[in-house]
Amino acid sequence: MSRVVLAYSGGLDTSVLLKKLVLEGHEVVAMTVDLGESDAIAGSGAQSALEAVRSKAIALGAYDAVLVDARERFVEEYAFAALRANALYQDVYPLSAALSRPLIAELLVETARKYGADTVAHGCTGKGNDQVRIEVAVRAIDPSIICRAPLRESPLSRPDAIVLAREWGVPVTHTTEKPYSIDANLWGRSIEAGVLEDPWNAPPDDAFAWTAPPARRPPVAREIVVTFAAATPSFEGKSGATAVAELNAVGGGYGVGRIDLVEDRLVGFKSREVYECPGATIMIAAHRALERLVLTRDELRFKALADRRYAELIYDGLWMQPLRGALDAFNGAFAPRMTGEVRLRLENGTCAVTGTRSPYALYREALATYGASDAFDHHAAGGFIALHALPLEAVARAGRPHAQMLGAP
Ligand code: ARG
Repeated sequence: MSRVVLAYSGGLDTSVLLKKLVLEGHEVVAMTVDLGESDAIAGSGAQSALEAVRSKAIALGAYDAVLVDARERFVEEYAFAALRANALYQDVYPLSAALSRPLIAELLVETARKYGADTVAHGCTGKGNDQVRIEVAVRAIDPSIICRAPLRESPLSRPDAIVLAREWGVPVTHTTEKPYSIDANLWGRSIEAGVLEDPWNAPPDDAFAWTAPPARRPPVAREIVVTFAAATPSFEGKSGATAVAELNAVGGGYGVGRIDLVEDRLVGFKSREVYECPGATIMIAAHRALERLVLTRDELRFKALADRRYAELIYDGLWMQPLRGALDAFNGAFAPRMTGEVRLRLENGTCAVTGTRSPYALYREALATYGASDAFDHHAAGGFIALHALPLEAVARAGRPHAQMLGAP
């Protein structure tokens, strides 16, 4: 009989899975991770719901059940690291689900060590990115741990899951087909499957839970200020997970952070995914705006390349790849200057930066102004243009065509 740590959400699939492992004769430690899924919107507290998940696991015959509150760890070590890289997959998705999986893997391994288990298990199927992210991270941390994905080995349809659940005494709360597959944590909520599988279908209102539909958004815009101290964000005196939850609530009220993406999955096919990420969207917009104020042109240009790669590493399940650590060090090099304030206007589904200030601003009004106090050396521009054009003049003098003359190939 071996001891297995199972990543347990309390839903139908992982509950059936738990029972299956128990019936196979394993000692199952059910591990439930609180990433703020239910209280991602500030003030909607869900600690008791998670306690119920724990009790359910015990009732199903788990050897033990642990509830790990990983909200601050997730935000500080994962989401904020990604924020410093302005991490958006395919330019729009803040990687909420992708960021949580390596943390879940870490916690699985930590729990396995605590309980002397040699095996960890999860309820992912064989089609998604998340199985890759969890298992690659587990292997990176401890290659000696066995990682099982029973629902990949023998897939379970929903009707079959319900039949098994009834037979095994697993409580079934909703027997009707769930319209979507949902994953949520403080950094965002992902919605897939159902009617969204046809990319021509507009996301129906019932796909969204955190963001107000157009008819319920306040008619007047609201201005908010996000503050950064050495690259660490805060909002109205709140920091960490609380600041993110607060921005989810405030931004969600204005319908900010709805994302609709036909994305390229790591496992090779395109899938249509809808997200709502008000807090992440606002924080990333604010962070980028502050960077534009305080970083040099060369830093910004190069960092954009590194940021893109960073987002791809997260998406592709390579959080544990040493390159990610090196990029964190690179991003950390800017942190001492990333202090300042960003004002944003929330209005009907949008968040627009309307002001930035920082003691480290490289912006010089005296150079930029068209007014009387202009300190820019206009004469220097003539010489600059002459040198900037020199390579192109050489092309012209050699009698070769410039790009516009070449026309379309
Ligand atoms: N497609 C996203 C990703 O790979 C989200 C997946 C989350 N799962 C879900 N059931 N919506 O990061």
